[in-house]
Amino acid sequence: MQANGTGFPQRRPRRLRMLPKVRDLVRETNLRTTDLIYPLFACPGSGVRREISSMPGVFNLSVDQIVEECRAVADLGIVGVIFFGIPESKDEQGSGAWSEDGIVQQALRAVTEALGDELLLVADTCLCEYTSHGHCGVVSPSGEIENDSTLGLLEKTAVAQARAGADIIAPSDMMDGRIGAIRRALDGDGFANTPILSYAVKYASAFYGPFRDAAQGAPKFGDRKSHQMDPANAREAIEEARLDLAEGADMLMVKPAMPYLDILHELRRRFDVPLAAYQVSGEYAMLKAAGAKGWLDEEKVMWESTLAIKRAGADFILSYFAKDLARAINEGR
Ligand code: PBG
Repeated sequence: MQANGTGFPQRRPRRLRMLPKVRDLVRETNLRTTDLIYPLFACPGSGVRREISSMPGVFNLSVDQIVEECRAVADLGIVGVIFFGIPESKDEQGSGAWSEDGIVQQALRAVTEALGDELLLVADTCLCEYTSHGHCGVVSPSGEIENDSTLGLLEKTAVAQARAGADIIAPSDMMDGRIGAIRRALDGDGFANTPILSYAVKYASAFYGPFRDAAQGAPKFGDRKSHQMDPANAREAIEEARLDLAEGADMLMVKPAMPYLDILHELRRRFDVPLAAYQVSGEYAMLKAAGAKGWLDEEKVMWESTLAIKRAGADFILSYFAKDLARAINEGR
């Protein structure tokens, strides 16, 4: 007990935890449906709705189904969606990423036509879903993922996405210099007002496993360690963020989210731009799996994990739980 009256019994933090309404009153972090972006996987065909086995409740959707899904997402009050694509066919250069009738471009046009500006349409800009080798860039004869020759392809991809109606361009490839290159390309094509959300701090993470099933984008050889960050590094995240801001990024992302909350918090302290965090496929899969087994209460861990991401410093969250969260928020749960 402290004699100066600042400690127990005068100070009783439990007083503010006794009544649910007082707890509501003093809650420091709240999630809103406008904090959430829902990932979508566009695939060829029509009427296709194929559940991803490692991500229950998440589907590969043909463009017509994407439109339906977007309507449902907008009705829930979710602010936007981010598109990934599973192309009809893949090639060395990943031409499906930038062709005018690429699968994501088709989805962007269809959703824009059906929903106007009801939803923010974010385009993930990368080549790995479209290349036959599954890498995020051009592969040299010796098997190296080339940086500078990849930039032009990323520029073409971003411009094609903006032309098809993307409101925000989100490069996830981790090539050096890509933010500057994409910024110049967008500006040169009349998209000076299209913001870039940079996956600035993206770690080489095993938590992307289920996504690679969903997007069929696993590398056929090697790994992504020559461009994605080493999970052991924190200072390097600051450098990545600084470089991307200098090149013209409008917003920064940290990915994955929960294993990297320290990084998110550090970026929040140091930079005054909006920050996003991506609660990735593996984070979703493990909570879903434990929930399905009855080992964890799925709804509660969904809340706790996303609140933690926001509390650590994210302004908004990309999450496969977005629809479930929005329902819970709307129902006041
Ligand atoms: C690359 C990309 C990946 C994810 C988003 N964009 C996969 C990777 O880098 O291997 C992962 C998202 C997730 O796991 O949910 N286009």
